[in-house]
Amino acid sequence: MTRLVLFISSVAMIVVILSLRFFHDVKVDNKLFNYDEAKNAHIQITEGMAKNTEHKEGPEEVPEEKIEAVKEIVIVLDTPELVKGAAIYKACISCHGKNAEGKKGQKAPKLAGQYDWYIEKQISDMKNGARINAVMDPYIKKLSPEEIKDVAQYIAKFSW
Ligand code: HEC
Repeated sequence: MTRLVLFISSVAMIVVILSLRFFHDVKVDNKLFNYDEAKNAHIQITEGMAKNTEHKEGPEEVPEEKIEAVKEIVIVLDTPELVKGAAIYKACISCHGKNAEGKKGQKAPKLAGQYDWYIEKQISDMKNGARINAVMDPYIKKLSPEEIKDVAQYIAKFSW
C-alpha cells in the first residue's frame, strides 16, 4: 500500500514539475490591448487571404475570329439539293467562312441566314455581269442555274 502511495505521489510530483517548466514558456505581455492595432492586423490577414483566393489571371480574351473558327454549325443534309449545295459551298469557305459568317480580311460578307432567293439572284447577277464581283468570278462561272439554287439553299440554312 505504501509503495502504491509513494508511486502515485512521485508521478504527481513529476507532473507538477513538468507543468511548472511550461510556466516559463508562457509569454507575459503587459501591453495594453490596442484596438486599432488589432483591427489593422485583422484587415491585413483578411486581405492576404482574399488575395490568395483570387484567380491569378482573369479569363483569357478570345478574339471573335477564333470563336467563329471553333463553332461548327451542323446542317442536316436531308435533300439531294442540300448535299450538292454543301459540296459546292466548300469552294466558298476560304472567303465566306465555314459557317458562312463572312471574313473581314477577304471583304467577304456574311451570308448565313440570308434568303435563298436573294443569294441565288446575287450569284446569277454576278454570273451574267449585272453585278460585278471579279474575285468570285472563277468560283461561280462554271455553276449551272441548278447548282446556284442548291448552294443558295444550303447557305440559307446557316443561322445568323
Ligand atoms: C475569293 C473570295 C471569295 C470566294 C471564294 C467567294 N466569294 Fe462570295 N463574295 C466575296 C466578296 C469579296 C463579296 C462582296 C462583293 C461585293 O462587295 O460586291 C462576295 C459576295 C457574295 C455574295 C453577295 C452577298 C450579298 O449580301 O450581296 C454572295 C451571295 C456570295 N458572295 C456567294 C458566294 C458563293 C456561293 C461562293 C462559292 C461558290 C463564293 N461567294 C465564293 C468573295 C468571295
